[in-house]
Amino acid sequence: MPNLALHGGEKSCHIAWPTWPIWDDHERQGLLDVLESGKWWYGDRVKEFEEKFAGFQNALYGVTATSGTTALEAALVALGISHGDEVIVPPYTFVATASAVIRVGAIPIFADIQPHTLCIDPDDVIRKITPRTKAIIPVHLAGYVSDMDRLNEIAATHHLALIEDACHSWGSQWKGKGTGAIGACGVFSFQASKNITSAEGGIILTDSEQIADDCRSYTNVGRRKGGAWYQHFNTGSNLRLTEFQAALLLAQLTRLEEHTLRRQANADLITQGLRGIPGIIPIENDPRITRRGYHLYCIRLDLNAIGTTRTRFAEALTAEGVPATPGYTIPLYKNPLFERMSSDPTSIPYWGDRVDYRQASCPVCEQVCADTFWLFHTLLLADAPAMTAVVDAIRKVCENVSELQSE
Ligand SMILES: Cc1ncc(COP(=O)(O)O)c(C=O)c1O
Repeated sequence: MPNLALHGGEKSCHIAWPTWPIWDDHERQGLLDVLESGKWWYGDRVKEFEEKFAGFQNALYGVTATSGTTALEAALVALGISHGDEVIVPPYTFVATASAVIRVGAIPIFADIQPHTLCIDPDDVIRKITPRTKAIIPVHLAGYVSDMDRLNEIAATHHLALIEDACHSWGSQWKGKGTGAIGACGVFSFQASKNITSAEGGIILTDSEQIADDCRSYTNVGRRKGGAWYQHFNTGSNLRLTEFQAALLLAQLTRLEEHTLRRQANADLITQGLRGIPGIIPIENDPRITRRGYHLYCIRLDLNAIGTTRTRFAEALTAEGVPATPGYTIPLYKNPLFERMSSDPTSIPYWGDRVDYRQASCPVCEQVCADTFWLFHTLLLADAPAMTAVVDAIRKVCENVSELQSE
């Protein structure tokens, strides 16, 4: 008789997990207010949200944009990154971290991640620095804060801009300071799956008025503070948010603190429960991460010990009633985009040399892409007993993994 639900055994978890997005009368009223005001275009609500969200992350300035992707582009432009510059990025991330670099004519160079944080490895960053390097974009993956002490030190020593890709880290703090303005600036996404959302949207946070002004100029068609309406100082774009989006975000922001704390407390329960389960490599938080805003809960498997693939394991767990996804299955540089760029130098007109991404090698990332699966942040919004059910389901799959090995 099989034990695993995947093979017809009894399902171990029957919890109805919270769905996303969460909304109530705050969102409904906010949207109605905007509708009835007739002021739908970028205005007071957007500015109020920028101030409040910057304050939430302990930053001085916030500049909204249409997405995390366009916010990254604005940040790169504001920091003067352009044609032929190299920007060091991790390969375990969403494509935007690297594609934004390409969009401004610069060259993404991949540095490996650390096996115990899944964030960029400062030692490999140092190895990847060349005279053309102008910036580093660490990703606070799943809300885990990259080692900002080391990265700030490296950036200062080598005169590099440090742009945080904080698109997974609303609420995360490093030694008490929110992510976003720990480096020169940082970027967040409000896309539909994110922990605070207006379906699409993004923001750049910074403590520098100059960077904020330059980002604003880029997102607002090259206008400048104090300039006339039809005076355009830079080649910008139109990346403004609407008042409808701001109304949603203001409503969502009222729950962010409580949600962040609940996710963190629940994630801690899972981490405690997973300790000692053979085959599981839990990821422990760095004590300098004084608060972690979980976007994902990442679990690494010891593939030798469990003797099956991560994908099959995640399928078995999902069948038990705990939704799990493999997440990123290949390092970014193995995407067709980078393979094509490597074989077709005309697709990279500003490069003096070619970067052949087919030669890229980030062994830790390759291993993590094979052995890691994710639980989504919505699951962490359930109650504490539900976390015991998560751990029990993982333990059950581990204990019955021979059923997967014999397939
Ligand atoms: C790490 C990371 N960076 C950037 C982005 C881009 O954000 P957006 O989808 O809002 O453009 C995402 C979105 O998933 C992301 O996960």
